[in-house]
Amino acid sequence: MRAVILISGRGSNMEALLRANLPVDFAAVISNRPQAAGLDIARGLGVDTVVLDHRVYGADRAAFDAALAAEIDRVGADLVCLAGFMRVLTDAFVMRYRGRMLNIHPALLPAFPGLNTHARALAAGVKIHGCTVHFVTPEVDAGPIVVQAAVPVLEDDTPERLAARVLAQEHRIYPMAVRWFAEGRLHWGEDGRVRVDAACAAEGVLISPTG
Ligand code: GRF
Repeated sequence: MRAVILISGRGSNMEALLRANLPVDFAAVISNRPQAAGLDIARGLGVDTVVLDHRVYGADRAAFDAALAAEIDRVGADLVCLAGFMRVLTDAFVMRYRGRMLNIHPALLPAFPGLNTHARALAAGVKIHGCTVHFVTPEVDAGPIVVQAAVPVLEDDTPERLAARVLAQEHRIYPMAVRWFAEGRLHWGEDGRVRVDAACAAEGVLISPTG
């Protein structure tokens, strides 16, 4: 199976995917930002990189997305992994990769879609926070959920501390989800529900507080 990873910045989830020894040929890492730190990491791991600077396309989202699709299809990707890709995608692009495009979001969806999830979780006073891998649908951060990991929110948390605790779990569950997809163990059914083979459904469940 061939996959591409789309990034805009740091690339730590990308790195977790590339280092996880998945049964996947990561054909390219594509960034919409030329300065994305993740590009150097990808090159260091021997993965082809492509820069598609969204600023060249101005406000024309359809043109940028068409160029992005052309790159993805050029490498023949079966799966598209969004990993900190900070672009709102057009419906046409999303539908083109329906059922084969995943995203990682730093919150327990459907709570806290969008940005600044950790500060918002602290402001809301939630006791459990976490992260979600989901299939991508036209509505941002709203697609069918594949896997979630939960972490406790602690008394003295700052957004940064909470983010670090969540990020460690992101690096666990994104490779899990991609592995399930690659092994044909992840299904997005006609009824709109996601199913994962029972053998792997028990992995990585975290409930907090405990006791
Ligand atoms: C992660 O928190 C991810 O959940 C969100 O954007 C951040 C990207 O971080 N979508 P990185 O580039 O993977 O380090």
